[in-house]
Amino acid sequence: MALLDVNNLSVRFDTQDGVVHAVNDVSLSVEKGESLGIVGESGSGKSQLSFALMGLLARNGRAEGSVRFDGREILNGGERLLNRYRAERMAMVFQDPMTSLNPYMRISEQMAEVLTQHQGLSKRAAMAQAADMLDAVKIPDAKNRLRLYPHEFSGGMRQRVMIAMALLCRPELLIADEPTTALDVTVQAQIMALLAELQQEFGMAIILITHDLGVVAGFCDRALVLYGGRIMEEAPVDPLFEMPSHPYTRGLIEAIPRVDQGQAALRAIPGNPPNMTGAPVGCPFVPRCPHAGEDCRAVMPPLERFASGRARACHRDIATITEAAR
Ligand SMILES: Nc1ncnc2c1ncn2[C@@H]1O[C@H](COP(=O)(O)OP(=O)(O)O)[C@@H](O)[C@H]1O
Ligand code: SF4
Ligand SMILES: [Mg+2]
Repeated sequence: MALLDVNNLSVRFDTQDGVVHAVNDVSLSVEKGESLGIVGESGSGKSQLSFALMGLLARNGRAEGSVRFDGREILNGGERLLNRYRAERMAMVFQDPMTSLNPYMRISEQMAEVLTQHQGLSKRAAMAQAADMLDAVKIPDAKNRLRLYPHEFSGGMRQRVMIAMALLCRPELLIADEPTTALDVTVQAQIMALLAELQQEFGMAIILITHDLGVVAGFCDRALVLYGGRIMEEAPVDPLFEMPSHPYTRGLIEAIPRVDQGQAALRAIPGNPPNMTGAPVGCPFVPRCPHAGEDCRAVMPPLERFASGRARACHRDIATITEAAR
């Protein structure tokens, strides 16, 4: 049994302009200790997918489908069940640490609160464990830094604090939503290295959400490419890079800046991500896809799964796409 099993998950939002279809019929699974990448441009539904898993959707949002954690259905589970799962078995880190840190509380109090509430530790034991966790995320002089407020840390250090908070109850699954996007390149690399190290140490599974396919390359076992709230392609990471089988993945890979070719090689996929208002018809990539035809406009291709562990949703076969790219 997989640690996390998601089946036909859809997320919709009611708005004044109509219904926003943010996530459409997504199925995925995460094994214990595995790292799964979820990649896609801004607006492709990555965050709403993870919020639905965590039971954190905005008030105007609703989720349908099934999310099983360790065999138990948790989608739309009651507040009490979710509160327990959220802190103790699955945790999340965000692009902006201030989403989950309270600016008016010392780090020590915030961390201790989690431990006294969820693990029943005494204040003293909680403080000691909080300091250990700051050590684990390599914050120098952890004992003294515990007394600081969030704004007294640099961006990179604050991200480390948030990771430490997320790991306090030793979750089996960590969902990291663009954890390094707001940081400069050097700090980004340090945080990713830290996450990899912590994953080894704690043996947890990680869902890494990013718009940057390059980040996934060095970190994940498997990746899933999202566009218009739908899975376009899924594959183990190496084959995905060596031979992307979907026009959108191909576009993303070509858009990764290459050191050997300089900035001139940076090529974004022309066009904009789709508007998600209204029920989707056909393949969402149609307006930007070099291979689009009438069939694509009319019908969304089903996600076809192959024995190799790959899956793709496209009306054209791989040979056609590969041939055209030559
Ligand atoms: N509360 C909301 N009400 C209406 N639409 C929303 C709400 N939250 C997110 N959306 C829409 O859902 C879509 C997916 O957003 P999101 O998951 O945040 O994308 P990503 O994380 O991939 O950048 C976007 O079109 C966004 O505008
Ligand atoms: S289904 Fe059609 S529009 Fe969509 S990615 Fe494939 S070829 Fe392009
Ligand atoms: Mg997002």
